[in-house]
Amino acid sequence: MEHLILAHTDLRVSRLIAGCMGLGGGWGHATVLAASHEKQARELIDAALAAGINFFDHANIYARGRAEEVFGRIIKEKPSLRGQIVLQSKVGIRWAGDPAGTPQRFDFSYEHIVEATEAILRRLNTSHLDILLLHRPDPLMEGEEVARAFARLKQDGKVRYFGVSNQNRATMEYLQGFLPDPLVANQLEMNLLHSGFAEATISFNQASPLYPDGWEGVIEYSRRQGVSLQAWSPLARGLLSGGDLTAASPAEQKTAALVHELAGAHRVSREAIVLAWLLRHPAGIQPVLGTSRADRLRACAESVGVKLSREEWYRLFETARGKSMP
Ligand SMILES: NC(=O)c1ccc[n+]([C@@H]2O[C@H](COP(=O)([O-])OP(=O)(O)OC[C@H]3O[C@@H](n4cnc5c(N)ncnc54)[C@H](OP(=O)(O)O)[C@@H]3O)[C@@H](O)[C@H]2O)c1
Repeated sequence: MEHLILAHTDLRVSRLIAGCMGLGGGWGHATVLAASHEKQARELIDAALAAGINFFDHANIYARGRAEEVFGRIIKEKPSLRGQIVLQSKVGIRWAGDPAGTPQRFDFSYEHIVEATEAILRRLNTSHLDILLLHRPDPLMEGEEVARAFARLKQDGKVRYFGVSNQNRATMEYLQGFLPDPLVANQLEMNLLHSGFAEATISFNQASPLYPDGWEGVIEYSRRQGVSLQAWSPLARGLLSGGDLTAASPAEQKTAALVHELAGAHRVSREAIVLAWLLRHPAGIQPVLGTSRADRLRACAESVGVKLSREEWYRLFETARGKSMP
C-alpha cells in the first residue's frame, strides 16, 4: 500500500481510505446493533489493516450513528487500534425530525458543529478525531462562527485538523478566509461516471460542456493550496465492476466491458481498474472505498499496483463520456 504524509499535517495515511457508510446496518432502519454488525465491522477493519489501509472515513449520519457506534465497540474491545489508525468523520447534515417537527437541513452553526462532534467522539470511543469534515455546504453558514467552532474543538483537543466535503472553490476560499489553519481535505464524488472534475478541464471554451456548474478550479485550487482530494463513490457503486447492468446506458455497458478487458490485460480485479483511473490523475486523489465486504476491499487494494497508460486512461474516459475528446 502506498502511504503519504497529508499536506499541512503530521498524519501518515494510506492512499486508499476505508469508508464506513455501509457499517452498522447501512441506511436501513434497524435501531439496534446486532452481533452480525460487530462481526462485519471487525472483519472490514482487519481486512483494511492487512491491506495497509489505516485511514477510516465516517459521518455522524451513517446508519443514523450506528456506523460510528459499531466502530467504537471495536475500538473499545481493542484499544491499541486507535493508535494505528487515522479517524475522520463529518458533521453538518441534520435529518428531518431532529428534533421533532424540523425539516432536513444543513447546519454549520457553532452549536451543531461542537455538539455533533462531541457525540461522534462518544460513539467512536475516542478522545479525538484526526480530521473533521463539514459534510455539505450550508447556505446559512457564517465564516466567523465556523472558525469559532473549529478553534474550540482544536483547543479542547477534540479535533486535530479540519476539511470540507462537496464544496466548490468559492465556498472553500470563503471559509479558508476565516481560518488560521489550512483546510486539509475536500471530499467529492469522483468516478468514471461522475467525472466533472476532469470534464471541467477539457470542456473549457466548448459550446456544450458535459459537466454541471461548480467544478471550475476545484482541482487546481486544491492542488495549489495542498487541500487533499478524496473521492466518494469511487467505484460508481460497482456498476462498472460486476454490478447489474440491465438498466445501464450504452456508454456504461461499453465502459464496463472495457474495464473487464483492462482487468484481464493487467491481471487485476475490475475494481482495481476503476480505481486506477482516479489514482492516475496527478492530483493524488484518495478513493474512499464504500464496500462493507472484506473480499471486495482486497480487490480494491490491488488498484495501487496499477498504473494506467495515458492511452488507457483516455480510452476509459472517452468510453464513459460516450463522446470523443473535443
Ligand atoms: N461526503 C459525502 O457526501 C459522501 C457521500 C457518500 C459516500 N461517502 C463516503 O464514501 C464512501 C464510499 O461511497 P459509496 O459506498 O457510494 O462508494 P462505492 O465504493 O462507489 O460503492 C460501494 C457500494 O457499492 C456496492 N458494490 C460495489 N461493487 C459492487 C458489485 N460488483 N455489485 C454490487 N454492488 C457493488 C458495495 O456493496 P458491498 O458493501 O456489498 O461491497 C457498496 O454498497 C462511503 O463509505 C462514505 O465513507 C461520502
